Amino acid sequence: MTRRLAFINEKGGVGKTTLAVNTAAFLALKRRARVLLVDLDTQGHAAKTLGVDVRGGGPTIFDLLVKPGVTPDDVTRPTALDNLWLIPSWKALAEFPTEAASDPARHERLATRLAPIDGHYDFIVFDAPPSYGLVTTNVLLAAEEVVVPVATTYLALDGCAELVATVERLAQTHDRPKLRVTTLVPTLYRKTQLADEVVAKLREHFGAKVTEPVALNVAIDEAQSHGKTIWEHAPWSRGAAMLQHVCERIERAR
Ligand SMILES: Nc1ncnc2c1ncn2[C@@H]1O[C@H](COP(=O)(O)OP(=O)(O)O)[C@@H](O)[C@H]1O
Ligand SMILES: [Mg+2]
Repeated sequence: MTRRLAFINEKGGVGKTTLAVNTAAFLALKRRARVLLVDLDTQGHAAKTLGVDVRGGGPTIFDLLVKPGVTPDDVTRPTALDNLWLIPSWKALAEFPTEAASDPARHERLATRLAPIDGHYDFIVFDAPPSYGLVTTNVLLAAEEVVVPVATTYLALDGCAELVATVERLAQTHDRPKLRVTTLVPTLYRKTQLADEVVAKLREHFGAKVTEPVALNVAIDEAQSHGKTIWEHAPWSRGAAMLQHVCERIERAR
C-alpha cells in the first residue's frame, strides 16, 4: 500500500516545499521507506532543495500529465539520497490547464497517470503550487492525506477553513473516502503574542490535528539554500529537531 501525502496551502512562502522535501527525505533516510517526491510547482523548488538541477532540461511532471505514452518511470529521477526519487517540475507546467481544458477528466489526470506505479513506493509526497486551481485539484485527487502548513502571521488563518472544506467537498464529489486533512503545521513561528494567538486559534478550530509550531530557524533556511535536506545539512540543529517532531506526527496521522 502506498501512502499519498500532499502539502497544500494556496499561500506562497509558508513552508510547503521545506516540509514536503524534508518529510520525504525523513521517510527515506530514517525509515528506509521507498519515497517518490512529486513537484507540482512551476518554480521547481523541490528539485532545488534536493540539489537536483532541472534547468538542464529532461522530462518533468508536465510530460507525464500532457504527453500520451509517457510513464511515471520516464520522468522519475534518482536523488542524492537512497530510497528517494523525484519527479521534477518546471515552467512548462503553467501550460497544463490550457492543454487539458477540453478533457472532462482533467481533474484526475495526475491520479490516472500515476496509477501504473501503484504499490511501487511506500510513500508518494506531493509538493503543491501556491494557488488554488486545476493543478491543486489534481494533487488533492491523487492524494489521501493532506498536510497544511500555516504561517503564524496575520491573515494566515484566512483561507484555512475554506481549504479544509474544499478537501471535504472534493472527497465527497469524487468519491475519495480516504481523502482528508490529517495535519496542520504552524510554520515560520516567532514567539510573539500574535503568533501565539494564531496557534491558539488553529488549535481551537482543528484540535489535535495541529502540531507544535516550527519556529523560524536559520539552519532550515540555510539547508534549502545549500540544496540539502536538514538531515544532511544540520542533523543536530534545533531546526532538525522541530522538523523531526512534525514528520513523526505526519507519519502517525494515517
Ligand atoms: N522554519 C523555517 N525557518 C526559516 N526559514 C524557513 C523555515 N521554513 C521555511 N523557510 C524558508 O522560507 C522560504 C519559503 O519556504 P518554502 O518551503 O519554499 O515555502 P512554500 O513552498 O510554501 O512557498 C524558503 O526560503 C525557506 O528556506
Ligand atoms: Mg513551494
